[in-house]
Amino acid sequence: MHNEAAQYDALLQTLLKLDDEERHKQLKELSDEQRKVLGYHWRLWARRSQLAPPGDWRTWLILAGRGFGKTRAGAEWVRAMAAADPDARIALVAGSLGEARAVMVEGESGILAVSNAQQYPVYQASLHKLSWPNGAVATLYSAAEPESLRGPQHSHAWCDEIGKWDNASSRAVSSWDNLMLGLRLGDAPQVVATTTPRAVPLVRQLADDASGHTAITRGRTEENREHLPDRFVRDMRRRYGRSPDRRRRRPSSTKRTP
Ligand SMILES: Nc1ncnc2c1ncn2[C@@H]1O[C@H](COP(=O)(O)OP(=O)(O)O)[C@@H](O)[C@H]1O
Ligand SMILES: [Mg+2]
Repeated sequence: MHNEAAQYDALLQTLLKLDDEERHKQLKELSDEQRKVLGYHWRLWARRSQLAPPGDWRTWLILAGRGFGKTRAGAEWVRAMAAADPDARIALVAGSLGEARAVMVEGESGILAVSNAQQYPVYQASLHKLSWPNGAVATLYSAAEPESLRGPQHSHAWCDEIGKWDNASSRAVSSWDNLMLGLRLGDAPQVVATTTPRAVPLVRQLADDASGHTAITRGRTEENREHLPDRFVRDMRRRYGRSPDRRRRRPSSTKRTP
């Protein structure tokens, strides 16, 4: 048993040393058992564009097509932050509380789905709260209720599909602003915003942020096609034709705003 654990650890270390392309090639060769054991090591499976960029960014904006793996990237980032910091106080913000729960917490690529048994958080639906065994806590919020974000303080935040937040009466922008005002716990508070690209005020504001504190990752659905049902990829192509995925042939990229 001990020996087996050591073998998996050796395999893990070997795989982690490979570059992205070679690693993904070898991952395809794993047995079901190996896949199961190594499944929770996100750094093995993630594409580089799904891992937090280096540097002292305050906001990481992932602007990418449906199915790229944005929600997965957000959920994995939250899981890693919670595991690393027992004092983490994390805000999870979606267009509604129902979506925060259904997508960010309980969704197929949400926090519970990506959590392993040793660090599995308890979800208390009535309190809109997730608690990790080490003491880290996440609270769910609705971007439709900016007032609920006025007051609470956080060390981290993940905001999903900010392009779809209802901005009637500037609600989306107010929710973001209130969240930012309360993002002041810990040494270096950070927020990850994941969204399909949309020309709405909040997304524009972040994409154009010239403070130098925002890192932006852009990506395409196709990059994750290996993990998407064929039918999904076909539907996306049919629906959007040669747009934006096909037209923009650049691979995903991350850059700091000037
Ligand atoms: N690097 C990856 N390796 C394996 N599966 C992935 C990876 N990235 C995403 N997925 C899976 O692909 C599917 C789509 O990802 P999701 O995060 O829901 O996309 P998006 O939020 O961009 O629409 C999910 O089932 C997710 O778990
Ligand atoms: Mg998503």
